This record gives sequence, structure tokens and C-alpha cells, in this order.
Amino acid sequence: MKNVVIGVTGGIAAYKALEVVSALKKLGIGVDVAMSKSAQEFVRPLSFQSLSQNPVLTDMFMEPKAWEIAHISLAKKADVFAVVPATANIIGKIAGGIADDFISTSIMATEAKKLIAPAMNTRMFANPIVQENITKLKGLGYSFTMPGSGRLACGDVGEGKLANVQDIVDDIVRLLYPKNDFEGKKVLVTAGGTVAPIDPVRLISNRSSGKMGISIAEAARDRGADVTLVYGEVSVPLPSGVNLIEAKTNSEMRDASLSVYDSMDYVIKAAAVSDFKVMNYSETKIKKKDGTLVIELEKDNDILREMGERKKGQVLVGFAAESHDIEKYATDKLENKNLDFIAANDISGGKVFGEDRNSLVLYSRSGKKTAFGELSKRETADRLLDEILKKE
Ligand SMILES: Cc1cc2nc3c(=O)[nH]c(=O)nc-3n(C[C@H](O)[C@H](O)[C@H](O)COP(=O)(O)O)c2cc1C
Repeated sequence: MKNVVIGVTGGIAAYKALEVVSALKKLGIGVDVAMSKSAQEFVRPLSFQSLSQNPVLTDMFMEPKAWEIAHISLAKKADVFAVVPATANIIGKIAGGIADDFISTSIMATEAKKLIAPAMNTRMFANPIVQENITKLKGLGYSFTMPGSGRLACGDVGEGKLANVQDIVDDIVRLLYPKNDFEGKKVLVTAGGTVAPIDPVRLISNRSSGKMGISIAEAARDRGADVTLVYGEVSVPLPSGVNLIEAKTNSEMRDASLSVYDSMDYVIKAAAVSDFKVMNYSETKIKKKDGTLVIELEKDNDILREMGERKKGQVLVGFAAESHDIEKYATDKLENKNLDFIAANDISGGKVFGEDRNSLVLYSRSGKKTAFGELSKRETADRLLDEILKKE
């Protein structure tokens, strides 16, 4: 049986860890729970004890029940060690190498895979110290189920809300049962938005956050692929363990992508590339004046079409963000641009951009339609990889 240790730290979202424990038990996974002192202010250990059917570990120096040191035996037993919810404090302690309570000591002692699900006030989450700690831990191989946006318990609105319980469970299960089915495959992913400069200070951009493309790059990496990520403007941290190429404009993204295209097995173009560029780009800053300013736009490179034309065995996947007649536009694009798959996003009502979850519909050239339903972008990424891998 697989074993998961859940470390619960002191945030309002501590009660949601009960649902995580319950969901893991239903999947037949063994669960042990350790709670920080602060966490016990929010939820009583007895609740976790009842759901996990194991004693809850709360104190490093408690009377030993057996001739073993609890935090070491727990560290050894774990296949995955997850901290749910993770406070700014525990993230800082892990990143700083501090081991002064049960959770921080056992996570330092464990060789298990580690998952952190942060939850905190928006301003705490945005604090560069917290962000730097997360980036450091990601670089060291810690997985994160990143918080979502929404109304927080303190009344603030923004990022910091504990991720959806199902998404945390999915991430734990993925760590418990890793796939290596992209081993030996070369995967190119593009992510984020591009910019069309107007003058040295102004530009036209779009609302892409890069989350979908980055989730795909991370999923392919975790499944053994050699991943190249060409990224434009993104609002989330870049992944470690992939080849990174920055490309801000349509032309830069075209050149960067095509320079590696021929050697790829899979190409997934999730970036929102601007279709137009500014015709009369001004080398100097356009001065303020009365009346109107006319900016003329002309069509820019169609990178996906070029890729379709020079395809030699690559599996080519495009994205279509549409607000109406989604299926028609998506399937037309699939044919016209010689793609193998197209993933359609319904962006009516301002959905998708910047969100942590989406519901993609994947159309294949052979006429198959797969609706993934609403999932985290990471889970969507894995489902997409499952489908494209099936192509003969
Ligand atoms: C009502 C209340 C809610 C809190 N919620 C959070 C939270 O969601 N995230 C967080 O990082 N800290 C939160 N804190 C602060 C932590 O509890 C505090 O930093 C504590 O030292 C964390 O200890 P631990 O990481 O050992 O659990 C909260 C504090 C209080 C009093």
C-alpha cells in the first residue's frame, strides 16, 4: 500500500486538509497526519485521527509509543509528504533549512516526493520572500499545487486561496504513480502572450497568463520528455528542468520555435501569439497630443501554419481560444493549418485567461472529440498528453 503523510499547518484552510485525507483513504492510500501547533488551533487532531485511522503526530518530544523515533519512522514510511495547507512560515522554514517542529524536521529527513499546497493572505503570497522560497523549492524538486484566486477568509480578494481539494489529491496521486511514457521524446511547448510594440514604451498585448502552456511543459517533463519551452509574457513562475527560450514578439517566437522545430516529436503551441503587428512602429516615444491617434496594424506571421506546412512526422497541437462558434473555428483551423490536434477553449464571459482551471475540448484530425470537463490546468495537461500519445 502507498503511504502519504499530510503535514497540516496553521491556516484557516486547515479544515480542507480533512477532505484531502478522506479522499486519499477512499482511494485505498494509507495516510498519516502531522499537525503543527498552530494548526491545532484551527482543527482538533481527533478529526484527523478519525479520518486517517492513525494517531496524529503533533509533538517531536512526545512519549514514544514504540522504540522508534516518530518523525524519522514517518519520514521513512512516506511515499509522498504533502503539506496541506502550507503556511508562509512552513514554506520559509523548509526553504531555509529550519527543523524546529515535527513537520519541518520530518520533511527534512524524508526521501519521499514532496508536495506543498500553499494557502495564505494575498499580500503574504505576493511577498517576494514567499515567492523566492517557492521558486527555490521548485528548483529543488518540490512540487506545488498552487493557490487559486478568490475571496479569502480575511475578506481580501486575490491569489492565496488553497487550491481545489480534488486538484491537490490529483497531484498527490500523480506523484504516487508516476508515468514515464514520454521518455526519449522531444517536446516543444510555447506559452504566454506575445507583445506588439507601438513605440519604445507602449505595446499591445493580450491576457494570456502562460499557465496552460507551463502546466503542459511541467507535465511532459514529469513524464520523462526532453522539453523546450518558448515563452512570452507570463504571470507565473517558469518551470525548472526544461530548456527555456524567451520570445517576446511574434517574430521572436517564430524564430525561436522554428529553430528547434525540426528535431521535435511533439509540438504544442499554447502561446497566445499576436496576429497583428504595428505598421508604423515609432522609434521615438509618440508625444501626447489632442485629437485621435491612429495605429495601423498589419498581419503578422502565422507560426502554426508554417509549422503545419513544414511538418515532418511531428505531432502538432494547436490551441483555439474562441468566444463563439467554437467547434467550427477549431475544426477549420485543424484542417487549414495541417494540425494533428486542436484544443479548443471557450473564452466567452472572460473565462480561461489567468484561471487555474479550465475545460478544454480536444479535436483530432481523425475526427475524435474529447471533452475533458472542468479540471486544473495541470490535470488538463496530463489528459492532453494522454490523448496525443495515443496517436499512431
Ligand atoms: C486566524 C488566523 C489565520 C491564519 N491564517 C494563515 C494562513 O492562511 N496562511 C498562513 O501562512 N498563515 C496564517 N496565519 C498565521 C500562522 O498561523 C502563523 O504564521 C503561524 O506561526 C504558522 O505556524 P505553522 O507554520 O507552524 O503552522 C493565521 C493566523 C491566524 C491567527
